[in-house]
Amino acid sequence: EGWSTPLTLHNNFWLRSHMAQKFMLVRDNFKPRRDDIILATHPKSGTTWLKALAFTISTRSRYDFADADHPLRTSNPQRVVPFIGAVGGDLDFLETLPSPRLLSTHLPLSLLPPAVSAVGCRVVYLCREPKDALVSRWHFDNKMSKGDPITLDDAFTMFCEGFSPFGPFWDHYLQYWEESLARPQEVMFLRYEEIVSDPLKVARKLASFLDAPFTEEEEKSGVVDQVVSFCSFESLRNLDVNKTGGAERAGGKIFIQHSSLFRKGKVGDWVNHMTKEMGEKMDRLVEEKLKGSGLEF
Ligand code: PPS
Repeated sequence: EGWSTPLTLHNNFWLRSHMAQKFMLVRDNFKPRRDDIILATHPKSGTTWLKALAFTISTRSRYDFADADHPLRTSNPQRVVPFIGAVGGDLDFLETLPSPRLLSTHLPLSLLPPAVSAVGCRVVYLCREPKDALVSRWHFDNKMSKGDPITLDDAFTMFCEGFSPFGPFWDHYLQYWEESLARPQEVMFLRYEEIVSDPLKVARKLASFLDAPFTEEEEKSGVVDQVVSFCSFESLRNLDVNKTGGAERAGGKIFIQHSSLFRKGKVGDWVNHMTKEMGEKMDRLVEEKLKGSGLEF
């Protein structure tokens, strides 16, 4: 224990105990299709942002994002792209979705069915500089928790020991990193920091990857800019649905306020929370764990 809910170890990854059983069903029962697109992230790496971008880009011929009934104006990005085997992404329900399906997961690659690689599903993996990801996680967990808040010191120690939901984070990053090297055409490896520094470039890259490249006409008429600004932190956070709504569990009780998915949206916020020593310690750990892989932060 230590995080706001107990964790249990499955195939060397920590899962929230109350979700573990559902997640274990994913590997046995989720049926990947060749044309699935899976958005995979370690928690707090920008899942909400990636979902908004991928959804808006891939559905832009169907939904005009200026319309009041655009799904991102009536529902949160986390909901419009279902989590495989988790809330909103029940496995039976996923079977009913038309192809190509846009799906998401926090699960490490080794807890997804081997068919994901074998049939060649496309995967977009998004990761984030670990110090910022931890700070984001710590704020979020304390907001979600009904118990006493955990200190950043404790969260830091556990995170660095690999003891966090879907952790160890380095193995999560590395599995998808290696998959992106093995299947470069089908697995796109992205970083939060990269989207922050050049969102237009990432939007174009994503559009091509999703078989929906922006046309010259769209480029000229500013559609790429519109997609990026519609999916920006400020824009999403200020939508009414994200100010007031939340994700519900069965029984109708809100357990995640949409607003808590939009905190600060900045790169380098760790300096406002961690000491220099903590930062250096984490950097050393990350360097050691990723050594020789070609992946660096
Ligand atoms: S979750 O619960 O794991 O799915 O959360 P996730 O969406 O991965 O991560 C939340 C952090 O992403 C920031 N965020 C954004 N940044 C930039 N642009 C947009 N549109 C955006 N949407 C969410 C969010 O603020 C969290 O980061 P922090 O550092 O806590 O602000």
